[in-house]
Amino acid sequence: MTIKTSFKMIQPDDWHVHFRRGKILKTVVHFTSKIFYRAFVMPNVIPPITTVKNAENYRKEILDVVANKKQFIPLMVFYLTDNTDVNELVYGYKKNIFYACKLYPINSTINSEYGVSDIKKIYHVLSVMEYFGIPLLIHGELAKNCIDIFDREAEFIKQIMLPLRNRFPMLKVVLEHITTKESVEYVLRSNQYTAATITPHHLMFNRNHMLSDGIKPHFYSFPILKRKKHQEALQYALTTGCDRFFLGTDTAPHFQSDKESCCGKAGIFNAPIALSMYATVFEKLNILKYFEAFCSLNGPKFYNLPINKDNIILIKKSDTIYDSIDCYNNKIIPFLAGKKIKWSVLGN
Ligand code: DOR
Ligand code: ZN
Repeated sequence: MTIKTSFKMIQPDDWHVHFRRGKILKTVVHFTSKIFYRAFVMPNVIPPITTVKNAENYRKEILDVVANKKQFIPLMVFYLTDNTDVNELVYGYKKNIFYACKLYPINSTINSEYGVSDIKKIYHVLSVMEYFGIPLLIHGELAKNCIDIFDREAEFIKQIMLPLRNRFPMLKVVLEHITTKESVEYVLRSNQYTAATITPHHLMFNRNHMLSDGIKPHFYSFPILKRKKHQEALQYALTTGCDRFFLGTDTAPHFQSDKESCCGKAGIFNAPIALSMYATVFEKLNILKYFEAFCSLNGPKFYNLPINKDNIILIKKSDTIYDSIDCYNNKIIPFLAGKKIKWSVLGN
């Protein structure tokens, strides 16, 4: 067996990113834009992205902080509410402002209070999306107090996804940041209309890492880390080489003071090391042969977008992750701060 110490690959895209607005945006955009060519920008900002004008302003805010605007393309995502304006959505899609819609079940995560309270309320929107081929990105958790937080994803598949799929068989659906065996099995038995993203933190860790040996706020995100058997199911998904799994980091920065608090916010800021984490997992599973497809080919194929033209080089080189990143008068703590990573992108 040859041990790879560097490899060239097509530049990857990140299909799930939170940039926020204002100070945090100015601080974090560069960590994504220097590695990835495109990113799906999550719309759960305040106010949520529900109009073309709002999306255009948000895109401009992002591009203004990217040094060379030609090298990074933020792709905007429309936030679905109970009162979604379908004409606005279709107009924005046809104008290449919106590339997908996001379904946040109401109160399922950060800034999801404008989300959908009952999926039936947007069936007419989903029907239009199915017609035009607009992808539906799903935060797949059924967030009810009566459902245990560790079961919310599996319940979503059972109670929402199965009937939704029956009703809209050709709607393009991406189950985002899947965390369970149930989701992996669901995607594997689905057809070309269903895909999923997997985060690096759900691949590398399980709930023991977050909760045993001290509670770790920087491991806390939604969907929450699950049992080891679910982490192994996600890893298994990669070993199948199925082209309906692809990269989406769910990088989600918050101020240190909002994370290290008696009521800490969910979200993991992994952008600085996400690609390295993925490479570590693929290497450990001895499936580096599928790495480029997962990072750079499967997403564009599913979304019908061109494959990136540039390449990057990953090298095996030990590096220490920053302890913290200054953000005006506050700090953002990167995931695995102070720890070592094994892989780096050449030139970064
Ligand atoms: O942990 C999370 N944080 N999960 C989400 O779905 C949203 C994200 C955020 O916006 O902070
Ligand atoms: Zn997210």
